[in-house]
Amino acid sequence: MTEVRVAVLGASGWMGRVHTMAYQTFPHFFGDGGGTARVVALVSANPQAAQELSFRAPGAKLLPTWQDAVADPDVDLIDICLPDNLHYEVAKAALLAGKHVFCEKPLADTAAQARELADIAHEKGLITRVGHAFPRNPVHDLAKEIIDAGEIGEIKLFKGCQHVDMYGDPLAPYMWRANGDLAPTGIIGDTGSHVFSFMEFLVGKVSSLIADNFIVTEKRPVVDGVGYGGETALTGDEQWSDVTNPDGSNILCHFANGARGLIDFSRVATGRKFMQTYEVYGTKGSLAYTYDEVNRLRFYSNDDEVGRRGYREIDVGPEHETYRAFLPLPNFSLGYNESKIIEVAEVVKSIVSNQPMWPTFETGHHICQIVDACMDSSRQRAWVEIT
Ligand SMILES: NC(=O)c1ccc[n+]([C@@H]2O[C@H](COP(=O)([O-])OP(=O)(O)OC[C@H]3O[C@@H](n4cnc5c(N)ncnc54)[C@H](O)[C@@H]3O)[C@@H](O)[C@H]2O)c1
Repeated sequence: MTEVRVAVLGASGWMGRVHTMAYQTFPHFFGDGGGTARVVALVSANPQAAQELSFRAPGAKLLPTWQDAVADPDVDLIDICLPDNLHYEVAKAALLAGKHVFCEKPLADTAAQARELADIAHEKGLITRVGHAFPRNPVHDLAKEIIDAGEIGEIKLFKGCQHVDMYGDPLAPYMWRANGDLAPTGIIGDTGSHVFSFMEFLVGKVSSLIADNFIVTEKRPVVDGVGYGGETALTGDEQWSDVTNPDGSNILCHFANGARGLIDFSRVATGRKFMQTYEVYGTKGSLAYTYDEVNRLRFYSNDDEVGRRGYREIDVGPEHETYRAFLPLPNFSLGYNESKIIEVAEVVKSIVSNQPMWPTFETGHHICQIVDACMDSSRQRAWVEIT
C-alpha cells in the first residue's frame, strides 16, 4: 500500500479541519516517497458544516456516524478528532475492525482503557498514533539531541507549564471541555497531557506525583453555537451549567530516573493567550524553551569558559530534516499547523513502510497513567505511585 485511505471523524471541528488539511498537504513538503494519503470519508455531528467543508477533501463521502466509517472497507486509517469521551470507544471499535488509528489526545479517559487499546493494536499489528503534536516541532528534537548526548549531564529538575485564558473570563460560555461526562479529566487530559508529552519525550517516565486540581469558576452560561474562544454578549436569559472537571492543576512529581518535576497548567490564566514553557536542569547545563519563540532553544553549558557563561539562543533551521522540509532558512518559524503536517507525514510513512514512530498508543498509555494519578492524588490529597 502506498496510498492510505483516511476517514476523519469530527471533521468540522478544529482538529478535524487541521488533520484534513494536513493529509492533503504533507506530500508538498515531504514528497510522496513515504506514501500519500487520501481523505475518503468525513464524519461530523454537524452534517451541514461537514457539507460546507467537503471542498477540502474532494470526492470524500460524508458519513452520518463514526460507526459507518469504522465499518467502511474503503478506509485504512481512522482519524479521531472527536470529544475526549468518545476516543476509547471509537478507537477500540476501529482497531477491532482492523483499521490503523490516529487518535487526538488524551488517548482515553483512563489508563486502563489506554492499556487495552495499546494491547489490541499490538496483537493485531496495527499502527497507532496519539496526537501530541507539540514535541514534533524540530526545536524539541534539538533539545532531545542535547540531552541524549549528555551535554547537560544528569537531569535533576524539569519545570513545565501551559496556561491559556479560554476560561479566564467567568462569563465565557460553557462548552464540552468543561463537562465531566464529555471530558472526564478536564484540563488534566486536555492541556496537561501536552506538558506530560514533553516530559515523556525529554526526561522519561514519571514514577510518583502529588497534584492539586482546582475549579475556579463553578458555573458557566450556555450559549448555542459558541465554542472554543468564542465571545458573545449575554442576554441574561441563558441557562447555566456546572463546570464538572478541573480548570487547572499544580503538580510535583518524581521521574523514574531520579529527576524531579514541577508542573502547572490552567485554562483560567487571565491574559495568557497561550503560554507553554519548559526548563530542564542538569548537572552540567540546562535548556529553556518558550512557545513565544517557538523555534528557539536556550542552552547553558558549564563547559563554556568561566566569564563567558550564559544562555545561548539556538534557532533551529534546515539542519533538521523536518524543518528543511518546509523552509530553507533558520528562524522563519514553523508553527502549530506545521507540527500537525509533520505528524500526519509520520503516521502515513509508518503505515506504508511499517517504520517505528513516536508517540504511539504506548506513549498515550503512559500519559493517561499520569492523568489518572493527578485525578487520584488530588482526590486523596496524597502522593500517588505510578507503576
Ligand atoms: N493536539 C492538539 O494540540 C489538540 C488541540 C485541540 C484539540 N485537541 C483534541 O482534539 C479533539 C477534538 O477537539 P476540537 O478542538 O477539534 O473540538 P471541536 O469541538 O472543535 O470539534 C469536535 C468535532 O466532533 C464532532 N462530534 C461531536 N460528537 C460527535 C459524534 N458523536 N459523532 C460524530 N462527530 C461528533 C463535532 O461536530 C465537531 O466536528 C479533542 O479530543 C481535543 O482534546 C487536540
